[in-house]
Amino acid sequence: MFVVKKEIKGNDYYYLRESKREKGKVVAKTIAYLGKSKKEAEKKAKEYKLNPKQETMEEKPTEKKKLTIDEIANFCKRKGFVYPSAEIYGGLAGFWDYGPIGSELKNNIKAQWWKQHIHAREDIVGIDGAIITNPKVWEASGHVENFTDIAVVCKKCKNKFKVDEQELATAKCDKCGSDVESKGKFVPMFTTQVGPIEEDSTLAYLRPETAQLIFTNFKLVQENARMKLPFGIAQIGKAFRNEIAPRNFIFRVRELEQMEIEYFIDPDKKEECPYEIEDIEIKLLSSDMQEKNEEPVPMKILDALSKKIIQLPWHAYWLSSSLNWFRSLGANMENFRIRQHLKDEKSHYSTDTWDLEYKFPFGWKELQGIADRGTYDLSQHEKNSGKDLKIMNNETGKKILPMVVAEPSFGVERAFLVFMNEAYTENEKGNVVLKLNPKLAPIKAAIFPLVKKDGKLVSIAKEIHKDLRQEWNVLYDATGSVGRRYARNDEIGTPFCITVDSDSIEKQDVTIRNRDNGKQKRIKISKLKDTLRKLLSGETKFKNI
Ligand code: GAP
Repeated sequence: MFVVKKEIKGNDYYYLRESKREKGKVVAKTIAYLGKSKKEAEKKAKEYKLNPKQETMEEKPTEKKKLTIDEIANFCKRKGFVYPSAEIYGGLAGFWDYGPIGSELKNNIKAQWWKQHIHAREDIVGIDGAIITNPKVWEASGHVENFTDIAVVCKKCKNKFKVDEQELATAKCDKCGSDVESKGKFVPMFTTQVGPIEEDSTLAYLRPETAQLIFTNFKLVQENARMKLPFGIAQIGKAFRNEIAPRNFIFRVRELEQMEIEYFIDPDKKEECPYEIEDIEIKLLSSDMQEKNEEPVPMKILDALSKKIIQLPWHAYWLSSSLNWFRSLGANMENFRIRQHLKDEKSHYSTDTWDLEYKFPFGWKELQGIADRGTYDLSQHEKNSGKDLKIMNNETGKKILPMVVAEPSFGVERAFLVFMNEAYTENEKGNVVLKLNPKLAPIKAAIFPLVKKDGKLVSIAKEIHKDLRQEWNVLYDATGSVGRRYARNDEIGTPFCITVDSDSIEKQDVTIRNRDNGKQKRIKISKLKDTLRKLLSGETKFKNI
């Protein structure tokens, strides 16, 4: 192994090269780029010679960092993930704008959810309902009457928050513990007027959940898509809640986006779940355990089902599917738990409800609710609209009103926070390495010419960029040192960096670097697209290319 200096356009660049005999000939290969200074190059070469097993310059492992929610929010703003909405005017509490990198991550989260829950299965179809709909929908659903909270203000620190009716008598400030004063009931639905002429206009609501549009369209969707029970209808879309105290960055917001499924079954087949339940081990907190002040215990989902802690196989199935979705995208199950609603916490229509909770920087909080809604919604809409929403049960030839056995429902913002929190690591230099699953990564690969003034390298790099851009969101980056460019891309989670150097001209190959361990390999340009496809889908691991 030997260090070589190459002079390109007046600048020195150092490389580590190695001579090998191949098919009777001695050929020299570049193993690694060593930087621009002789001293740094000699140091790196020495490290490499001491540990020649490494494929190239491997960086030290990164460390998972415990962050506060403010640190996550600051990082998100600095790197173009999320900004306070219209910040130049001081923002508006509970509203956030997603920047160039954040909107990509958000879209990727939604796309992965849609892919797994709709495209990958035959029993669920998707819809896209209106944000503003006939206000009778919200009367029928019970939102106008029952979707109420009581606003309270702390007598001492003036902190505002909401409580349930049964909590009001004993409520204390959740910040300082002082007594609170009730400001009365409020309906957290935003209202608007439909129609520009005031006397002709109708009062309407911005939807507080996407679910109701699934119920109102239930019969049409079932007929159009020729769905047979059991089946689900899914939707991703905006919802609005006039929260009294939006807080914790994007955890509690006033404009949110939900990913919801209503899963319908024949009410006589509540116990029959035809799907295999992935037996995930997870911390579990039943309502009994909470009443006895016990700590959560790790338990396999199937054990919890056989012990009747989880009552319905369908709930076990949906809890495990939801956990599996997070796990398949790189989340650590240690940070998740399932918690059963207490008897007086459940919605009036639900016989059993479980929350999927996540260890957010501010504690264990709800990430997703999985409720059994029975036939409540469809029968309410039948009653209020006067329309028959029953469907034919092909097996019995009788018409039935299906029940919702599970409503996996969660906010895109909370999933966004989970993936950010899970991915955030720092290397020994204190640089952020955002280890997002490649499927979620906003930018899939960054392409660099080693030297931006070298026309040949630039032209190859631009050609590669143009080719890869046909398929993925990729970035061309020629400014700053290669180290700086790596660091910049590590921070926003770009899983692979592709560098075109002087060897690329003759050999038609490039260096590909893995964000997660800094390892680099050389790969033929002709194989790049196919290899990247396999790496991004998880079909191939970096060490196997
Ligand atoms: N359709 C059922 C439903 O809307 P929910 O428990 O009120 O149930 C479901 O909301 C999920 O929506 C929650 O688990 C959470 O992930 C998300 N969510 C609700 N309110 C939110 C808010 N103000 N900000 C962010 N996410 C929210």
